[in-house]
Amino acid sequence: MIDQIVYASTSSTGDFTPDLPDILRCARRNNPELGITGLLVVGGGTCLQLLEGEPEQLDALLSDLNTDPRHGHIVVMERRHAPSPALPGWAMGYSDAGPAESDLIAMAHDAMAGLPSDPGIIDRIVALARAVPDRAIA
Ligand SMILES: Cc1cc2nc3c(=O)[nH]c(=O)nc-3n(C[C@H](O)[C@H](O)[C@H](O)COP(=O)(O)O)c2cc1C
Repeated sequence: MIDQIVYASTSSTGDFTPDLPDILRCARRNNPELGITGLLVVGGGTCLQLLEGEPEQLDALLSDLNTDPRHGHIVVMERRHAPSPALPGWAMGYSDAGPAESDLIAMAHDAMAGLPSDPGIIDRIVALARAVPDRAIA
């Protein structure tokens, strides 16, 4: 059994884009060792991230993320148990700019405004990952 989590966050600088190369390099270096996989969706100053792995590893990463100065305010939108990762081998995928991503970013805004989250957000991000090839950033 693993856990899957989706959180939403705002960038402390108003735009995650300039930080993306560093963020993805760091995630892709660390996550395989931690047994964590996932997808990062970015729309300017807002992001959503699906993370999946052993609960202890996820909690440790979440506490690192909470103290990362690039994050403004992190809101966990959904967390659940799963028999196995939905995105095995995805050290950290990345996706932005399409219509599906815009819908997700709108849902992130709602969550950060305190509205209840759609319980299907994990499944939506998994579906997006399967539909959209990773747009790798060097
Ligand atoms: C939007 C965002 C997503 C991140 N995702 C990950 C991640 O999946 N894995 C990871 O190890 N660090 C991630 N980080 C970086 C962590 O917050 C933190 O900087 C990192 O774990 C420190 O690793 P280091 O000690 O190897 O430098 C992310 C940061 C941001 C802003």
